[in-house]
Amino acid sequence: MKTIVDYKMKFKDAELENQVQEFFESYNKEEVATHSIEVANEARKMAKTFGLPEEKAFIAGLLHDTGIVIPQEDRVPLHISLNEKVFEEEKELPMILHQKQSVFISREVFGITDEQILSAIESHTTLKKNATELDKLIFIADKVKWDRTDNAPYLDDLNKALRNSLDEGCKVYIKWALSDIIVFHPWLKEAMDDLKISYLTD
Ligand SMILES: [Fe+2]
Ligand SMILES: [Fe+2]
Repeated sequence: MKTIVDYKMKFKDAELENQVQEFFESYNKEEVATHSIEVANEARKMAKTFGLPEEKAFIAGLLHDTGIVIPQEDRVPLHISLNEKVFEEEKELPMILHQKQSVFISREVFGITDEQILSAIESHTTLKKNATELDKLIFIADKVKWDRTDNAPYLDDLNKALRNSLDEGCKVYIKWALSDIIVFHPWLKEAMDDLKISYLTD
C-alpha cells in the first residue's frame, strides 16, 4: 500500500490548476480533472455571489476530489495507518473516505495548509456538523457540476433555492439524495440536524 508521501510528484508547472490536471492525468483520471476544474470555476462564481473568499473556493474546488486516486482497497488501511477514525459506514462504502483523503493529498502533495480550504474539502460529500459557509458552498458546487454526463435532476430546484441561501440549496440537494442513498454517513445526519431536515423522505 502506498502511503500519502508516495503520492508526491514533481510538477512541470507552478500553476495549481495545471498541477491538478497533471496529477489526475498521471492516474489516467482525466475526467476527474475536468470535473475538478468545473467545480473550481463554479465555486469561485458562487463565492462572488455569496460574498465568500473566491480564491479559497477555487482552490478547494480544484482539490476536493484528489483523494479519488487512492485505490478503494487501500482506503480503510490507509486511514487506520494514519490513526484516523473510520466509521462503520465508511468501512461499508470506502469510497466515502475520498473526501477526507483528499485533505491528506492536498496537504502532502499540494502543500495546502489553509484550514478553511481543508475543511471544505473534507466534507464535500457528506457535509458535517457546524459546517461553515465555505463548506456548504463546496458541497453545493460539487453537486451543481456533478460528475455524470447529463444535467443533475435536482438542478432547477437547487438553483431556485440558491437564490435564497446556501442552506436552502443544501436542503434541496440532501432531500433529493436521501432517495438513493447507499449508506447514511454520521456527518450527514449531523448536518441534517443543523439544517433541520427530517429523516423521513416525502
Ligand atoms: Fe468527491
Ligand atoms: Fe466532485
